[in-house]
This record gives sequence, structure tokens and C-alpha cells, in this order.
Amino acid sequence: MKPARVSGGRRLRFEIFRYNPEDPRSTPHMQDFELDDAPYMSLFLALNMIREQQDPSLQFDFACRSAICGSCGMMVNGRPALGCRTLTSDLPDVIRLHPLPVFKLIGDLSVDTGTWFREMVEKSEAWIHTDKVFDPEAVEERMDDDLAQAIYEGERCIECGCCVASCGAANVNESFAGPAGLNRIARFMMDPRDQRSDADWFEVVATAEGVFGCIGMMACHDVCPKELPLLEVYAYLRRKSLAAAFNRS
Ligand code: SF4
Ligand code: FES
Repeated sequence: MKPARVSGGRRLRFEIFRYNPEDPRSTPHMQDFELDDAPYMSLFLALNMIREQQDPSLQFDFACRSAICGSCGMMVNGRPALGCRTLTSDLPDVIRLHPLPVFKLIGDLSVDTGTWFREMVEKSEAWIHTDKVFDPEAVEERMDDDLAQAIYEGERCIECGCCVASCGAANVNESFAGPAGLNRIARFMMDPRDQRSDADWFEVVATAEGVFGCIGMMACHDVCPKELPLLEVYAYLRRKSLAAAFNRS
């Protein structure tokens, strides 16, 4: 892991997007705040200090402070990142913060990622489809180690929305499943307990809303804070789609 660069003695200027869509008097604008830098200070700490000491109306989201809950995604100098794991020592003296695009704005830096993710899950039916009746007495079914590991990789997504915000296709096509959506679809395609056929999946994936909506910029792969193997996910989905198309024809 890269060691944190200890910094202090700097005066930081925060330029923060402000807008409350619930208030008809509010208009989108940037507001400046200043703060002394401190060693190991994260954006989480900096924003809390600004809210406590300078402006209690500032809106932003945090819950776990440890890159687990996925609620603190924001644009940091134009790049999506988690506020809780971004250190001010890794940033220049001027720090520009915007809310993540694509998602509905709640206010200032706070966005509603939950509705986007729920709609994506419902649309792609991203849950196990099986006719088997659950038997609590049954012995647990075995799974190949490599396959279990691949499914686990997909499950590591914390639904922060950073990949979606960085995605050129998701920014212009609201029906595109987006990187996180494709990752979730791939997770269930791989799962042998899901009884959907390749033909069923073809309808979900091999469309402009699925993997063929991706325009290949791959920013998602660069910004994912959990370093999910999104490039491998797309390659898997394209291979499966082509195989299903071949079988159809
Ligand atoms: Fe966040 Fe990565 Fe999941 Fe995208 S794939 S929502 S960037 S954890
Ligand atoms: Fe939970 Fe940042 S506060 S991921």
C-alpha cells in the first residue's frame, strides 16, 4: 500500500459546489472555504471541520469512514473518488468538489445513488433465478474455488457510483446498465445456481443498454476504489454474448 504523504503547514482552499434543489431561492454556484492542512487529514475530516466551524448547512454523505458503505463518492478535482479515503496530502492546494453526475442531486455534494442502483437491479433482475425450493436441511452445495472467487470479486462492489459517474456512456444514456450494473449482471451469469439460460441472458446483456452500450473509455476501471476487475467483466460478458449469438444462429 502506498504510504501516506504527511503534510501540514499548507492552507487549503476548497471550492465546493452548492445547490439545494428543494429551495426555489437556491441557484447552483461554487463557494470557497479555507482550512489548514493537517497530517493524515481525509476529505471526510476536512468537510466535517468546514461544516462544524464554517457552514452547518453544507450537505455531504458519509457513514462508515472506511471505504465500505459507498456513500461518500464525489468529484474531487474532476475525478470520482471516495471522500473518506482521499487524503488532502495527495491533493493540490486548491480542491474542487462537485457531486457525482448521473445520480439525482439531493443537495451540495450529496446524491441519491440508492434509487439508481435499485432500478438497475430490478431492470436486470439481478438476483438468483431458480425453481429449486430452499431446503434448510440440505448439505451445502460445493462450488469450484476459482468460480467462487470470481463471484466474490463481483460481490465486493460497494455501490459507491464512482464508476458510473466516470462512464461517458452512463452520462449520456440513462438506460445503460453502467459498469456497476454490468458487474452485477456478470456476477449472476457466472453463478451456477442461477438457472437462466444463455438465451435469457442474451436479451439482458447483448444490447445497447448492456455490454454493447460500453464505448470503451475504461475510466471505470481506473477509478473503482475497490479495484474490481471491470475490464475482465466486460470481456466475459462480450464472450458470453457472442457465444449465445453464435448458438442462436
Ligand atoms: Fe464503486 Fe467499483 Fe462498485 Fe463501481 S464497481 S460502484 S466504482 S465499488
Ligand atoms: Fe463509507 Fe466512505 S464513508 S465509503
